[in-house]
Amino acid sequence: MENQIESPVQQRKKRRVILFPLPLQGHINPMLQLANILYGKGLSITVIHTNFNSPNTSNYPHFDFCSIPDGLLEVGASTSDVIALVTLLNVNCVVPFRDCLAKLLSNVEEESIACLITDAVCHFTQAVADSLKLPRIVLRTSSISSFLAFAATSLLHEKGFFPIKGFHFLSDLGSEAPMPEFPSIRVKDIPLIETRDAEKFYQLLMSMMSQIKASSGLIWNSFQDLEQDVLPTLERDFRIPIFPIGAFHKYFPASSSSLLTQDKSSISWLDKQAPKSVLYVSFGSIAAVNETEFLEIAWGLANSGVPFLWVVRPGLVRGFELLEPLPKGFLEMLDGRAHIVKWAPQQEVLAHPATGGFWTHNGWNSTLESICEGVPMICQPCFGDQLVIARYVSHIWRVGLHLEKRLERGEIETAIRRVILEAEGQEMRDRIMQLKEKVDVSLRQGGSSYQSLESLISYIESF
Ligand code: UDX
Repeated sequence: MENQIESPVQQRKKRRVILFPLPLQGHINPMLQLANILYGKGLSITVIHTNFNSPNTSNYPHFDFCSIPDGLLEVGASTSDVIALVTLLNVNCVVPFRDCLAKLLSNVEEESIACLITDAVCHFTQAVADSLKLPRIVLRTSSISSFLAFAATSLLHEKGFFPIKGFHFLSDLGSEAPMPEFPSIRVKDIPLIETRDAEKFYQLLMSMMSQIKASSGLIWNSFQDLEQDVLPTLERDFRIPIFPIGAFHKYFPASSSSLLTQDKSSISWLDKQAPKSVLYVSFGSIAAVNETEFLEIAWGLANSGVPFLWVVRPGLVRGFELLEPLPKGFLEMLDGRAHIVKWAPQQEVLAHPATGGFWTHNGWNSTLESICEGVPMICQPCFGDQLVIARYVSHIWRVGLHLEKRLERGEIETAIRRVILEAEGQEMRDRIMQLKEKVDVSLRQGGSSYQSLESLISYIESF
């Protein structure tokens, strides 16, 4: 072996990338999926993470992890005000993140660190990367269209159309009017997020946009065929290399970055149901409803006559731990037609032959996972990007039905029956199966996501 001549590949130093996710479930999942994809392409991986919502590192023995103090829990930050949480994170993490990164850079032995990849929302990382002369590539974890709607929102604010305490100009237009700067959505779909201090929201948007423009590239968990209509605008407004390489979770079997334990009884219960008969209901990791809305949902589900698998995570109902608001005997009355869990193995649920529809809040991961399994949706967006995504699902891709009116049991019952039992639902299923086919093609050799990933790897190795 001593005399064996090393091939050029062996001679080349193995490159390492450092990743930093935003510590929210819907952002941790795609960042760790991306880490797995890059690892599969021969790169070494270090993940810097906060103490807040720290990932289960034992699920990733092939990665190195470094934890940094964030001081978030100490001041009571929580996902009930995401903007306040994220604003604080962008301040608190600067020094510990810089120290951690500088230490990693000084420790390098045979591997060389190629670049940093951070969540778009962690805009402070650009200045840190610049100060250490390390290229930063950004991961935006949502759809391209919702991102451009955020960019347009930021632009409107800069032009003075969003006075802090109201929407003077836009409300004059009417909520059904097309959004100025981004007419694919209506004024009422503008991606806003409730917070105690609205100005912080706009500041966050503006910092995120400017620091993306200052970065070395932008990775998307999306694919070209899905978002063809907005790619030229993205390329015009963000003159940096763009890599749409999604859908991330399709590169390997269901991954394990879940912060809550996934209840596998979901699958054994689905195994007993007829094909395409079940409605899966989940509103992701942050959205919450009040008690009245929760009861309307429960009765709408019950009255539909359709079997359902319902995720009621702790904190879904404001002011309650779990199922306390349900009337006594509710579950018994359904006689096995329903299964309720605190958290489900969602990717497996959506891939299960019994799943016929998904009532979702349209978080981007949930929406993409539904598209990848060809499951039509009932859209129940709550805030931010979800409003834009719901509009795309219902009116542009036409693979779902938007529950727009207030949550009321009769409306819910009708929507469920339309999607699961009626021809309209079958038409949506046919259309979403075509999107599923497109994503499959994009991931195969020569497909658009496959090629974008090859370009990304070459780009990283060129640093
Ligand atoms: C948040 C925002 O709400 C969303 O708008 C944004 O696009 C991403 O960040 P979240 O609300 O958690 O995300 O929703 P989503 O993006 O759909 O991500 C949820 C993730 O949790 C998905 O990957 C889903 O598979 C997983 N999940 C959800 C489970 O594993 N089990 C469940 O029971 C529910």
